[in-house]
Amino acid sequence: MHVYHDLRITPSILNADHTNLSAEIAKIAVDSDLIHLDIMDNLFVPNATWDFAAAEKIIANCPIPVDAHLMINDVDRIALDYAHAGAGSVTIHIEAAQTPTQTLRNLRKIGARAGMALKPGTDIESYADLLDEIDMLLIMTVEPGFGGQKFMADMMDKVRKSKVLIGDRPIWIQVDGGVSMETIAIAREAGADTFVAGSAVFNSPDPAEMVKMLRHRASDL
Ligand code: DX5
Ligand code: ZN
Repeated sequence: MHVYHDLRITPSILNADHTNLSAEIAKIAVDSDLIHLDIMDNLFVPNATWDFAAAEKIIANCPIPVDAHLMINDVDRIALDYAHAGAGSVTIHIEAAQTPTQTLRNLRKIGARAGMALKPGTDIESYADLLDEIDMLLIMTVEPGFGGQKFMADMMDKVRKSKVLIGDRPIWIQVDGGVSMETIAIAREAGADTFVAGSAVFNSPDPAEMVKMLRHRASDL
């Protein structure tokens, strides 16, 4: 079974070299906890990435668990396909979900970790009753859609509030967007323990080393 670190680094391959994805993943797989796969449908966000058939191949070939971040409208139906395809974690945006409780329960039933994501404008208080249904809360630190944007430090308030609401439930708190050597400690200090990093990892001359450095910086409070 895959063993996760206490502080998880989940590199996003959104801005990796898509023509050579297995090599890109191989570079970082040893030190990473999960590979973060950003799925966009050009409806929920103004950008499109892999369709399900392509994503299924990535999941099947990935040497470590895949963390599917679904930025799509028809999420209640498609999320279960990702779980059946073998994604280790499947995250749905609460703004897109029509039947969140049922979808999150079904994800767990299929054997995936169930994640709930909040866009920057979405508060956690309104969804506190869903905390019993999830294994991970994703707090976006950019508007979803693109890599390489600036980390929104004003989301740390939401991270702190979430940590209080979560209490002793074993829920991971993930941040996604603009996470780098400069910002990861801010997120860790607020209570995040799972970190997506796209451009910080893949724009680095040594992506594998960057994964380790990020985890080290996060542990270094
Ligand atoms: C944005 C995606 C992110 C993105 C992060 O919508 O959800 O996962 O790849 O990229 P960076 O780390 O460059 O902000
Ligand atoms: Zn993402």
